[in-house]
Order: sequence, then structure tokens, then C-alpha cells
Amino acid sequence: MNTHSDALRTSSYIFFLCFFNCLLLIPQVIHAQDLFSPSLLQDKVVIVTGGAAGIGGAIVRALAQHGAIVVFVDKDKKQGTQLSRELSNMSKTHLFVPGDLSKEETCKQVIEETLKYFDRIDILINNAGFNDKIGLTASPSAFKKSVETNLMHYFMMLHYALTSLKKSKGTVINIASKVALTGQGSTSGYAAAKGAILALTREWAVELAPYDIRVNAVIPAEVLTEAYKTWITSFSNHEQKLQQIKEKIPLGQRMTTMQEIANTVLFLASPLASHTTGQFLSVDGGYVHLDRAFTILNEKND
Ligand SMILES: NC(=O)c1ccc[n+]([C@@H]2O[C@H](COP(=O)([O-])OP(=O)(O)OC[C@H]3O[C@@H](n4cnc5c(N)ncnc54)[C@H](O)[C@@H]3O)[C@@H](O)[C@H]2O)c1
Repeated sequence: MNTHSDALRTSSYIFFLCFFNCLLLIPQVIHAQDLFSPSLLQDKVVIVTGGAAGIGGAIVRALAQHGAIVVFVDKDKKQGTQLSRELSNMSKTHLFVPGDLSKEETCKQVIEETLKYFDRIDILINNAGFNDKIGLTASPSAFKKSVETNLMHYFMMLHYALTSLKKSKGTVINIASKVALTGQGSTSGYAAAKGAILALTREWAVELAPYDIRVNAVIPAEVLTEAYKTWITSFSNHEQKLQQIKEKIPLGQRMTTMQEIANTVLFLASPLASHTTGQFLSVDGGYVHLDRAFTILNEKND
């Protein structure tokens, strides 16, 4: 018996196993359905605003894959109908409500239709938003419109859903933006609205804690959605600009995926976050909060 060569063989085997596992794991973004139970949100009735595309679309898919009944509202009827067809093909109970959330009637209608079809509301996800680049040189009325378009529906949706959320002891998740924390330049309206959304997250968490309603915010920074692509291509040197942004993202020097935002929303929406309220979760690979000197110091220290 040759224990030395046996041990060597075993350790080489373990090394190769780890090595190949690492190769497989490094570029992969973990999908929540691989980790969470598919019944994590079984039969929970969830409303998602701006759910037809982008981050909202990823959230709708993730919720449906985890057993939720999803009601989503979006002004983009074409994309919404397409996603609705996709969910029907997977036999997922859902409802798509086309409409513009800047109108109070739309917000009211979404709540009424949800209650008419499903009789309850467990989770509200305020996500719709648009960086409309209304900066300091824009007119005061354009600023007012930008704030109203990006902010008012967050309030109106919760206002009309409140009675139902109190009954269900539900939860609210607000999608904000890193712009509220860092500024971006030339986007006063959007920055003001997103800052207010963070303030309201804390305010509502306090007001609703006695009803066992949790309220949290997710803060994306750099996620390559269609809206982001439109923004980045507005720069003449957009490929270089995108590369410069990625280099400043400490974790992996890459953009956050829509799925990664949706995974965090799933966690916050679920009982796994049962004692988490009034929190801001930055899902951005460390972009906003980690050392600014990172790009020049990013050598491994092992
Ligand atoms: N993509 C990013 O990098 C990023 C960064 C920070 C914050 N965010 C925030 O994430 C959220 C989603 O952004 P996204 O990048 O997925 O955008 P997106 O444009 O790709 O998707 C937004 C969806 O919301 C819908 N929508 C917008 N305003 C609406 C309204 N008034 N009424 C009805 N539907 C409306 C749009 O039609 C669209 O389908 C927004 O609140 C945005 O501010 C995104």
C-alpha cells in the first residue's frame, strides 16, 4: 500500500475538482431559483410598478418563479403584453395593467383590479422611474414635472394599497437610485425624487411598524437595462465611458445584472427578511460605498 501516492492522488483530485468548480463558478451569476425554495412566496399577491421591462421585468419573473401571483403595471403596452404572454406560457397566474402611473386614476385602478381579481395585496414593489436629465438649466415647471413623475406614484400606490397591506401585514420595497446618494449632475428632478424615496422609506417604516409592515429600499447603481443603454449611448465616446464605469466597480469590474437586483428584492419580500425594515440595500458591487482609490489599489493581497 502506498499511502503517500494515494494521498497525493487524492489531493490532486481535490485540487482539480476545486479548480474546475472555480472555473465554473466565477463567471456565473447565481439565480435565486437555485437557492430559494420555488414556494418562497407561494400565492402572495405582489404588485410591481414599471414591471414590463428592465429591472421591473426581472423582478416580475423572479416573483412568478417563486410562487407569487404578480400584478404588474406599465405604460409600455407592447412589452407588458409580451411579458404577460411569457408568464401565461409558464402557467403563472398574473395580471398586466397597462397605464401611466403619473395619473392618480391609474394607481387607484391597479389597486382596485388587484383586489377585484385576487382579493388581497401582500407586497408592493415601487419600481417605475426614469432619469429624465432635468438639470439646473431646465425650467422650474420641468423640474416640478420630473419630481412628480418620479415620486408621486410611489406615494399614491402605497396610499391606495394601505388598507390591504395592513390586513395582510405586508411589505413594501422601493427601488431608489445611487443618484440620491452621489449626485450625477444635470438631473435635479430625478435626484430630488430618488432622495425623497429614501426619506419616505424610513418615514413609512416608522409609521407602519405598528402594523407589522416592513418598508425597505434597494439602491441600484449601474445596471445595463434598455434605459441605461439609451443613457450611455448619449455620450459620443460611450464604449470608453462604459469601460471607465466598470473599472470603478470593485466587485468584478462589471455591471450589476437585473437578476441580482431581483434576487435582493426576493429576499426583502420574503419572510427571510422578517426583522429588516427601514433599510437601504445598495446592490452595486461596492460602487457607491467602497474605497474610491480602489481602481489603483485593486491588487490581491494574498
Ligand atoms: N438601470 C440602472 O442602472 C438603474 C440605476 C439606478 C436606479 N435605477 C432605477 O431602477 C428602476 C427601473 O429602472 P430600469 O433601468 O429598469 O428602467 P427601464 O426604463 O428599463 O424600465 C422601467 C419600466 O418602467 C416603465 N415606466 C416608467 N415610468 C412609468 C410610468 N410613469 N408609468 C408606467 N410605467 C412606467 C417603463 O415603461 C419601463 O417598462 C427605476 O426606478 C430607476 O430609477 C436603475
